[in-house]
Amino acid sequence: MVVNSINTTNKMSRLSTVYGVFALSLALLFSSGQSIAQDSTAAAGATAAAPAAGGGDAEKGKAIFANNCAQCHAVTDEVIVGPGLKGIRERAPSIEWLHKWIRNSSSLIASGDAYANQVYNKFNKVQMSSYPNLTDADIDGILAYVDEASKPVVASVVATGDQGGATVAQGGAVASGPSELFTFVLVGLLVVMLLVLGVLLIIVTILSKAVTPVAVSGDGTQLAAPFSQRLKDGLSSTFNNSTLRSVVIWLFLLVATKESIDGLFSIGIQQGYAPKQPIAYSHKLHAGQYKIDCNYCHVGVNKGKSATIPAANVCMNCHGVIKKESPEIQKIYAAIEENRPIEWVRVHNLPDLAYFNHAQHVNVGNVQCTTCHGEIEKMEVVEQRSSLTMGWCIDCHRKTEVNAKDNAYYDKLVALHGKESKEPLKVANIGGLECSKCHY
Ligand code: HEC
Ligand code: HEC
Ligand code: HEC
Ligand code: HEC
Ligand code: HEC
Ligand code: HEC
Repeated sequence: MVVNSINTTNKMSRLSTVYGVFALSLALLFSSGQSIAQDSTAAAGATAAAPAAGGGDAEKGKAIFANNCAQCHAVTDEVIVGPGLKGIRERAPSIEWLHKWIRNSSSLIASGDAYANQVYNKFNKVQMSSYPNLTDADIDGILAYVDEASKPVVASVVATGDQGGATVAQGGAVASGPSELFTFVLVGLLVVMLLVLGVLLIIVTILSKAVTPVAVSGDGTQLAAPFSQRLKDGLSSTFNNSTLRSVVIWLFLLVATKESIDGLFSIGIQQGYAPKQPIAYSHKLHAGQYKIDCNYCHVGVNKGKSATIPAANVCMNCHGVIKKESPEIQKIYAAIEENRPIEWVRVHNLPDLAYFNHAQHVNVGNVQCTTCHGEIEKMEVVEQRSSLTMGWCIDCHRKTEVNAKDNAYYDKLVALHGKESKEPLKVANIGGLECSKCHY
């Protein structure tokens, strides 16, 4: 018996070692990303000590860039009106070329410069503004800032030299490590494996307690209680084990909390959502101050399911002449010239399982836009004011009377309803609470 219990303990400890190794690798996985990032920062720090080749003042450049260039250029690869300026130093023919271009791009284009004409044509001959007042130092500052800002991982480091730049860029790539999805899947797999191992460990403990005495006794005599009894004892002692119980309870609580938080998010989180739009279009200005009718742009509201977002050429009805030189309006031109839609960020969005129709509410129901959307004509940036949950729809259908005025179809319904009830005819009474009306 003594030998046998030592045996069991050995097996147990071997298993816990395996278990521990897994836990350790999990911990390593989380910490490794960080340590690599630290390495790269250190390396970058070393390169930063070397004098910056371009010699620009990035701090000053940042301010100049924000005031003059940011409307049209990103420091990344992204195209706004002009190309993203990431890597511009490598792309452009020379620093002198950049000085000339930024001070006066049109004269450089007119001089027949090949690269200048190439970018100009590529961006549909959109004229970049001229900055004759910027000194060489100002422009070097802008370029230093662009270099710095386009390398987010080592943002605090000014690395302007070509060599330095390359090293830092590599550091950045290492620090980002495996893709997020990959890490996610890996961690998920490890967690599942750990859980399976845990369960196996428990089963093995119970079984070994129940089985081994028989194996050791060998001579056929039953030293201990029958197998079934021992199995039962093992099981009950395991489930009475307080550590195990609290682990299970904690796991359960953790999952339950996560689920309910996710649930809350899917219900109310969209309320107040006001994403930044690609063009600083203002309803306060157009619908409020200039009193342009909502239908002028959202032509679908009276006709169909979707209110629709206006295409860029609707804007051109006015902006073909109004404020042509504004950088924001230039973005509309750029979209039209490049034949791509303006990528407005959607604010209101019901899940696919629900059906909502604007014409039914605006035209037939005579519900005002403000009732559901709030005072859009006062918003600089559109914000979702209502929750858009099922409860919100149902609540209004319970409370709101059907708009039966001048509607022969409803006259009969109202008369019928009047015989049965003293309450006015509500949307709920015409089927507004039926699942199939709102769900396909
Ligand atoms: C009104 C929009 C606008 C503003 C403001 C603007 N740019 Fe441009 N920029 C452009 C466009 C468009 C191009 C593409 C070439 C063309 O069509 O003229 C361009 C091209 C460039 C290029 C060449 C890019 C390449 O890929 O070779 C550089 C460099 C540049 N701009 C720097 C600047 C700097 C620096 C500022 C601020 C001082 C600035 N730009 C302000 C619109 C603008
Ligand atoms: C000159 C055109 C124009 C007029 C007039 C206008 N809108 Fe808009 N509306 C837009 C554009 C463009 C967007 C997309 C960009 C944005 O969200 O700001 C938009 C977005 C919206 C959205 C959010 C759409 C989404 O993504 O969920 C609502 C709601 C809206 N408008 C309501 C109104 C109401 C109500 C009025 C009248 C008071 C009105 N609009 C008048 C052009 C217009
Ligand atoms: C019915 C005419 C009309 C239409 C249509 C129209 N706008 Fe405007 N927009 C104006 C007026 C008027 C101004 C104010 C001009 C001013 O301040 O001098 C303006 C100003 C703007 C401004 C501010 C420009 C600045 O730099 O001050 C932006 C951005 C803008 N509009 C975007 C749009 C977009 C996007 C569309 C299409 C969805 C659109 N507009 C459709 C008349 C219109
Ligand atoms: C009864 C409530 C209600 C009223 C009234 C209402 N809307 Fe909406 N609106 C919604 C809902 C809900 C959505 C989201 C629809 C979706 O995601 O399918 C929406 C979406 C929109 C959108 C985004 C594009 C689209 O069609 O999905 C615009 C623009 C819009 N509404 C404009 C208006 C305008 C303009 C009016 C007034 C003429 C108006 N709405 C009246 C509830 C309403
Ligand atoms: C502000 C009040 C209000 C809100 C909020 C509202 N509705 Fe309605 N709804 C009405 C009115 C009023 C009618 C009746 C229109 C009519 O006369 O046919 C109606 C009718 C309907 C009908 C047709 C019912 C029938 O039996 O003919 C559907 C479907 C519907 N709504 C869906 C929705 C959905 C989906 C939502 C939420 C995303 C919603 N509604 C939110 C006021 C509202
Ligand atoms: C007036 C319109 C309307 C009616 C009537 C309606 N629903 Fe919904 N329902 C919605 C909308 C809008 C959503 C999506 C918003 C949300 O998730 O709250 C939704 C979401 C749901 C969801 C998904 C919830 C989730 O968390 O994703 C279920 C399930 C559902 N409805 C079942 C029903 C059943 C069953 C009925 C009939 C008893 C019914 N609905 C009647 C409008 C309606």
